[in-house]
Amino acid sequence: MAVKIQQFTHWKQEGRSIVALTAWDYAIAEVLDQAGVDLILVGDSLAMVALGYPTTLPITLDEMLHHARAVRRGVKHALMVFDLPFLTYQESPEQALHSAGRALKEAGAQAVKVEGGYPTMVETVARLVQAGIPVMGHVGLTPQSVHQLGYRQQGQSPEAQERILQEAIALEQAGAFAIVLEHIPADLALHITQKLSIPTIGIGAGPHCDGQVLVTSDMLGLSGWQPPFAKTYADLRATITQAVQTYCQEVRDHGFPLADSHQR
Ligand code: KIV
Repeated sequence: MAVKIQQFTHWKQEGRSIVALTAWDYAIAEVLDQAGVDLILVGDSLAMVALGYPTTLPITLDEMLHHARAVRRGVKHALMVFDLPFLTYQESPEQALHSAGRALKEAGAQAVKVEGGYPTMVETVARLVQAGIPVMGHVGLTPQSVHQLGYRQQGQSPEAQERILQEAIALEQAGAFAIVLEHIPADLALHITQKLSIPTIGIGAGPHCDGQVLVTSDMLGLSGWQPPFAKTYADLRATITQAVQTYCQEVRDHGFPLADSHQR
């Protein structure tokens, strides 16, 4: 049965951990979906892992939509969430409504994610929810603010911890159905998780969140670089390199294909 946003709060209440991963094309989305992932995020991290941009900032809404349409064709079961890219929602709630509307109408997304919890973002979340668009928040390390925050762990001082907690509470009050907590101390993530009735989805935020998300190319060992908190479950970079080198060798040695093309 296809996942619905209404299930997320029930899962939190039942203590059923939510499994989320990112996807950027049809093939990877289909594999994740069939493997049983609950939530597939078309994350703007695809700017870096699939398109080779140095940060997430350059990717446009049209580029994200192109990838999201491919992901949509691969996802039958998981909830598909679209990450609104930099400066397609920060200007005003109306700009956010226009961009999020395109994600739902043109790419079949079922929800959008926005970064930040500052007051205007809370207003934006409320506007989207009012229009019937489910929203996932994202606080802590927000990569679209890389030039302000770097990629450092956030919430290290008591003041910063309090601010992140208040942002999460405000996003819940504005109607967000879940919140990503990125790269914050585990005890802060636990505190936020206990305070909220909507689920927290952690990435580099310790084991106490209601669910976890990873960038799929990091967990598959495809990225050249992984953040320190990402666990690598496979080493696809090495597997692919080895397969390609074997192919190169066999083609150069006339070992593939054999004269009888049905024979391997
Ligand atoms: O873009 C992304 O992949 C994300 C995840 C890190 C949550 O926002």
